[in-house]
Amino acid sequence: MDAMRWEDGALLLLDQTKLPEETEYLRCTRPEEVATAIRRLAVRGAPAIGIAAAYGLALGAREFKGTDKEAFFRHLRTVKDLLAGTRPTAVNLFWALERAYRRAEELAERDIGTIQEALLNEADRLFEEDREICRQIGINGAAVVPPGARILTHCNAGALATAGDGTALAVIRAAHAAGKVAMVYADETRPLLQGARLTAYELKADGIPVTLICDNMAGYAMQKGLVDLVIFGADRIARNGDTANKIGSYSVAVLAREHGIPVYVAAPLSTIDGSLAGGGDIPIEERDPGEVTHIGGKRFAPEGVAVWNPAFDVTPHWYITGIITETGILRPPFKEAIRRALAAKAVHPTPTQEAEQRKLEQNPG
Ligand code: MRU
Repeated sequence: MDAMRWEDGALLLLDQTKLPEETEYLRCTRPEEVATAIRRLAVRGAPAIGIAAAYGLALGAREFKGTDKEAFFRHLRTVKDLLAGTRPTAVNLFWALERAYRRAEELAERDIGTIQEALLNEADRLFEEDREICRQIGINGAAVVPPGARILTHCNAGALATAGDGTALAVIRAAHAAGKVAMVYADETRPLLQGARLTAYELKADGIPVTLICDNMAGYAMQKGLVDLVIFGADRIARNGDTANKIGSYSVAVLAREHGIPVYVAAPLSTIDGSLAGGGDIPIEERDPGEVTHIGGKRFAPEGVAVWNPAFDVTPHWYITGIITETGILRPPFKEAIRRALAAKAVHPTPTQEAEQRKLEQNPG
């Protein structure tokens, strides 16, 4: 199940708005098409939108004709702003765009063709690295899953939201491979039903036992003793561990606390926004009221009714048992654990970054 792939000069995006009924790939050759796809959630999930945006930037770079370097960088910044303006909450979007743009700046002295190629390579690298990160999150997270576990998850933090096996679903997949998963409860996740349409679909396709519930059934499932742990993904994590994720995650975490159930967040370190001290500063996207008044294009609320449609909420860090990352599980006090994890990551370039640097040093031009 590939959320996206690069093929013959185009970014192919699986149109997730059509799942599970139809498997249709959108062929994007222009950054505007990628921006539209991100905005309308054809591609969604924090890591996936970051990678898609990096490909969008590469497409923008490729459409530039001419040799005026200044004009090229101006164009690149316009494309970057377009892509960054699509969705405000998932920090991976800005992180991936910044990283790709920095790569272009590093090569500012080289010819435009080299920079265009490097931007595509950087998007490929983000893709490949994310696959590996998901794998590591799966391995690290499986360790906290007890045998016979009944796990509740919210929204979709799976293969459809990443380049690999997912974050929360990578943990579930790895735990299932180890024979430890008795049942996954998937919250349907209103308003856009990512749990029902995407998580239930992914898990079912992989033969992992899944039971779909409406969001308002989570509390009763916990009260009945049906849930051993909760795992969900993240769109942005502040320095103190406060975590923004799909609307409804906070309610699930509060319910879990009441029932003594551990809550794990699974996310790559790139989802941590080191510039934010706490979750109160995380921008929360508000979306079209039509997503609340309609399901699958059909209206079921009265015309003209007032609607509030925040797409995310913030779970305060004290509800979170651990944050499962590619380098290990961060435990409270999160401020200190996050500081250490980010510092360790910044010091060590990835093997692919080192290889690319060596290649450029051997082949200047
Ligand atoms: O609005 P969406 O579908 O992009 O929201 C996605 C989520 O909230 C996911 O849980 C989060 O991005 C983590 S995906 C690995």
